[in-house]
Amino acid sequence: MTVLVSGGAGYIGSHLCWLLADQGEEFVVVDNLSTGREFAIPPQGDLIVGDVGDIELIANVIKQHNVDAVVHFAGSIVVPESVSDPLKYYKNNTANSRNLIEVCVENGVKHFIFSSTATVYGEPKKNPVTEDFPFAPFNPYGTSKVMTEMMLKDVAFAHDFDYVALRYFNVAGADPKKRTGQSTPNATHLLKIANQVALGQREYLEIFGEDYDTPDGTGVRDYIHVSDLAEAHWSALQYLRSGGEAIALNCGYGKGFSVREVIETLEQVIGRKLPVKTGPRRPGDIGSIIADNTKIKSLLGWEPKYDDLKGIVESALRWEEALAQKNSQD
Ligand code: UD1
Repeated sequence: MTVLVSGGAGYIGSHLCWLLADQGEEFVVVDNLSTGREFAIPPQGDLIVGDVGDIELIANVIKQHNVDAVVHFAGSIVVPESVSDPLKYYKNNTANSRNLIEVCVENGVKHFIFSSTATVYGEPKKNPVTEDFPFAPFNPYGTSKVMTEMMLKDVAFAHDFDYVALRYFNVAGADPKKRTGQSTPNATHLLKIANQVALGQREYLEIFGEDYDTPDGTGVRDYIHVSDLAEAHWSALQYLRSGGEAIALNCGYGKGFSVREVIETLEQVIGRKLPVKTGPRRPGDIGSIIADNTKIKSLLGWEPKYDDLKGIVESALRWEEALAQKNSQD
């Protein structure tokens, strides 16, 4: 039995690959390396460079590697880009997922874990959000993920196929063993950019909006350590393999931190002030979103190990330092 990890060279995908390698699980990565990095994949797994929407390629991988489960990370994730280039998101996220799901159904792959997002809820009327909140995506990125969740639901109803859609809140931090981390060139994540400023790679951090309806006016998010998120995928895999039914689950800690609080935490870690400017709201952004994680805890027995903003910030910074060294050697 082999797990096919689409987007396994990417940020979250590579953390799952290391976890699978640690567990002695067979896995194969399909990644087009558009944003992923080959060095991020553990040596135990093969890398096939290609597109997840390539039906023939994926069918061959499934047959050759005896794949029983697919974990589908590959896709585009930058909210403002989805506003300016929606068709890219409907192709990379929705159309490619449709092809991948079809190949699974046709080749008897019954277990599918999907990287969904808190963005499916849009701007929630209240926090924390539970999984039964209605879909209300606020940008094409969110809509592209909602469409995939809807396809999965229909396919699970029609075929011998089950899935877990994991709705990620704000993923941050890096592997404590420093084997992988956020390595995407031009990544737009708050903590990534803040760390680049801390390391002198950027001049300043811009805060996108201070007029949100939040305690300090800046955006509030639920930051989850990427290693806890990888564990959630591992638990979801056991759940599906033992006959679990199709489900969507929030992945977050149930705690919100503002942009200013994240900056202050990083300032504590580095012991100095960060150069910060304030600017207008970013297109597609919302004010506040926090997870209710009751369901994933009860259903999968998932328990966070790294629920500590300072630890998340530190691990991300340590990775950014390691990455700068790696990039300078390339
Ligand atoms: C992130 C994810 C998205 C996921 C969502 C779930 C990325 C690129 N996107 O979006 O896939 O679905 O969480 O909640 O990780 N900010 C600044 N200055 C910056 C960068 C960010 O002020 O330079 C602010 C943003 O306005 C926002 C917060 O920081 O309030 C977090 O932004 P970001 O890290 O980009 O993530 P999201 O947009 O929340």
